[in-house]
Amino acid sequence: MSFFGSFKALFRKLFSREKTKKFTHNHVAHAYSGETHIDEQLKSQFWAIGGGKGGVGKSLVSVMLGSALTRWGKKVVLVDADLGGSNLHTLTGIHNPQYTLADFMNGKIKDIEKIALETPVRNLKVICGADDILGIANPKSSQKARLFNQLKKLNADIILLDLGAGTSYTTLDFFLFAPNKIVLLTPQSTSIQNAYGFVKTCLFRKLTREFRRDPECMELLFRCNNSGGEEKINTIARLKKEFVKLGEERENRLSACIDELNMGLLINMVRQKKDIQIGRSFIPVVNDYLSITTEYLGFIEYDKRMDKSVNKMSDFLSDGTGNTIMTEMGFYDLSNKLVKKMFKDSKGIKTGNMERQKSGRQEARPSGS
Ligand SMILES: Nc1ncnc2c1ncn2[C@@H]1O[C@H](COP(=O)(O)OP(=O)(O)OP(=O)(O)O)[C@@H](O)[C@H]1O
Ligand SMILES: [Mg+2]
Repeated sequence: MSFFGSFKALFRKLFSREKTKKFTHNHVAHAYSGETHIDEQLKSQFWAIGGGKGGVGKSLVSVMLGSALTRWGKKVVLVDADLGGSNLHTLTGIHNPQYTLADFMNGKIKDIEKIALETPVRNLKVICGADDILGIANPKSSQKARLFNQLKKLNADIILLDLGAGTSYTTLDFFLFAPNKIVLLTPQSTSIQNAYGFVKTCLFRKLTREFRRDPECMELLFRCNNSGGEEKINTIARLKKEFVKLGEERENRLSACIDELNMGLLINMVRQKKDIQIGRSFIPVVNDYLSITTEYLGFIEYDKRMDKSVNKMSDFLSDGTGNTIMTEMGFYDLSNKLVKKMFKDSKGIKTGNMERQKSGRQEARPSGS
């Protein structure tokens, strides 16, 4: 199979994997490895939720997960990184945001803290995206660099980046920026296909950025990513072999880049046992073809109450019913595992700080509504 060609063989492989034995929320088993040169602050703070396909639940899961994380005593900021197609503010109950990312990107607001708006959930803030009126969907590199630098200054324990669909450079760069990467997919074949494409494109974005000034390496990457011309390079394992010929320094840089791309897999809209197995089959494929380690984080069941709740999410998040649904859907369980994982990986947050707050109505109101 061509590395970037037909998905036939890929899907044969996807669907022929062994069945998952238990229909249960799996634990976050292992720490991400290999991110040795990413600073500790970033490592503990930033999570990006991406996945390529639209409508798989990235925004909804970001809101639910963010909300659940506040129950463990964490200050959380959600960032609508879906520049140009934002809707996170609506999901968090803010209909007319006072400030959005556009105000910050255009220089109108200098202090990023000011655009982090209160939501109905205590300790959960949101930075709203904006419609693409001023070309915000394609910011310049300098604008992105400024944004990333400022995001690091936010007063938050955890910052969740809700990415847009597709593989625009902006979406890829947000994903690459966050040391903790979550790929969200549903058991639909198109979702798995898009998620694979998303991860593959991310990897090449990262590699071409790293080696852009090195023609020999770029030539190899081109052979990996292109059907014409010289002999094709079909897998990342093969690419690594070619890099060996270019010397240890480049070989090591390539390996470091790939190792840093470790990610977690979350399967949404699971309706039956076999959906988990289908979703999880993504892991060995990404590992085999792209040499990327992916850790299974768990699954979220399809729940028709979610569809119904989207229009009144703020009520849902702040009243008692929301708590029940969040518990039943496993969000507290999942957030607990993620927090524990961070404690294990990070020097920044201590396990002793984890403190479950009382459930029930929460008081803060959105300032931008
Ligand atoms: N676990 C679930 N059970 C039932 N419905 C769900 C679930 N997760 C998401 N949905 C529904 O899927 C729809 C799309 O969700 P959402 O907007 O979060 O997707 P998205 O991935 O952010 O889409 P986009 O890429 O367009 O931003 C929503 O109507 C939501 O209610
Ligand atoms: Mg979305």
